[in-house]
Amino acid sequence: MIMPAEADSINQAARLLAAGEIVAFPTETVYALGADAANADAVAKVFAAKDRPGFNPLISHAADISLLRTEALFDDRADRLAAHFWPGPLTLVLNKHPSARGASITHAGLPSISVRIPAHPVALAMLEEFARIGSGLVAAPSANRSNMLSPTTAQHVAEGLGDRVPLILDGGRTAVGVESTIIDLTGDVVRVLRPGGLALESIEALIGPCASAAPGDKPIAPGMLARHYAPQKPMRLNARHATEDEAFLLFGSATANFGGRLRLNLSESGDTIEAAANLFDHLHRLELSDVAAIAVMPIPDIGLGVAINDRLRRGATP
Ligand code: TXA
Ligand code: MG
Repeated sequence: MIMPAEADSINQAARLLAAGEIVAFPTETVYALGADAANADAVAKVFAAKDRPGFNPLISHAADISLLRTEALFDDRADRLAAHFWPGPLTLVLNKHPSARGASITHAGLPSISVRIPAHPVALAMLEEFARIGSGLVAAPSANRSNMLSPTTAQHVAEGLGDRVPLILDGGRTAVGVESTIIDLTGDVVRVLRPGGLALESIEALIGPCASAAPGDKPIAPGMLARHYAPQKPMRLNARHATEDEAFLLFGSATANFGGRLRLNLSESGDTIEAAANLFDHLHRLELSDVAAIAVMPIPDIGLGVAINDRLRRGATP
C-alpha cells in the first residue's frame, strides 16, 4: 500500500522493519526495498519480492556513520569520501568488520560489505527511528523486480511489486534519478564498480584517479552484468533520427525534425544532472506507451552522462 511519507507512516515503516518485514522507501537516487540487515529472514524476503536470481550482495544503509563503522573497516580514503559526500549518492565497498551485525545473506557471504548514507529526509527519518527501536541497518536494493527499470516514484514501485510489499512510503519523485556510484576500496587500487549519481570527476578530485573494474574481477556487481536496467522494448542508441514507429528519447535543444512518433526530452538545456533525474521516469513512460521501439540520442559521456550511458548500454543489450 502506498502511503504519503509523514511522521506516522515513517514510524510505521520503522516498526515493520523491526518486526522483520520489508518496506519500500524513497532515497535521493531511486526507491529502495529495505529490510533489517541484521535479520536474515527479513533480507530473504527482499530477494523473494524482487525475484532476484541469486543472493547478490545488498547495500547496508544507515543514518549515522557510527553504525557503519562497526560493519565495515574505514581506511583514510573511505573517511575522506564519507566526510565529503555523505549523506549522498555514493556507495563504498569496504572490508568487513569482524563484529559486523549484518546477516551473511546481506553481503552474500563476501569478505567485503557495501555501505551508504542516503540523502533523503524520509529515508533518514525512517533509519533514525529504526536505530532507536532496532538495528538501524537497512539492507536495500532498488525497489524493482530483478532486471526491470529502477523506480523513481512510489507509483513505479507499486506497478512492479504491488502487494508484495506491505508499505510503500511516498516521498515524491527522487531527485538524482540514477543509482549511487559504487567505489571499491577493498584493495590498494580504487575501482569504480558502477558509475552513478555522484560524478566520477568529483571523486577523483578528492582521492585521485580511480580504475574501472577489470572484467573478471570478483566479486562482480550484478549491476555490471551486460543486460540490466532493461526496458521491455528494443532500444537503439546514438540515434540521430527516429522512424515513425519509434519513440525518440532526446537530449538538448537541437532536436527539431528528427522524427519519432512520441518524443520525450531528458534535458532541453543539455544538463546531464537533469537528464539523470528524468531517465528512468521517461523510460517507464515509453514502456507504458504503445510505441514498439525506442531510439535514443547521443548523450555526452561527462558528469552524470557516464551513469546514463552505462544504464542505456545495458538496457540496449539484447
Ligand atoms: O542508489 C542506490 O545504490 C540504490 C539505493 C536504493 O540505495 N541501491 C541500489 O542497490 O542500486 P542494488 O542492489 O540495486 O545495486 C547495488 C549493487 C549491486 O549490483 C550489487 O551487486 C553491488 O551493488 N554490491 C553490493 N555489495 C557489493 C560488494 N560487497 N561487492 C561488490 N558489489 C557489491
Ligand atoms: Mg538495482
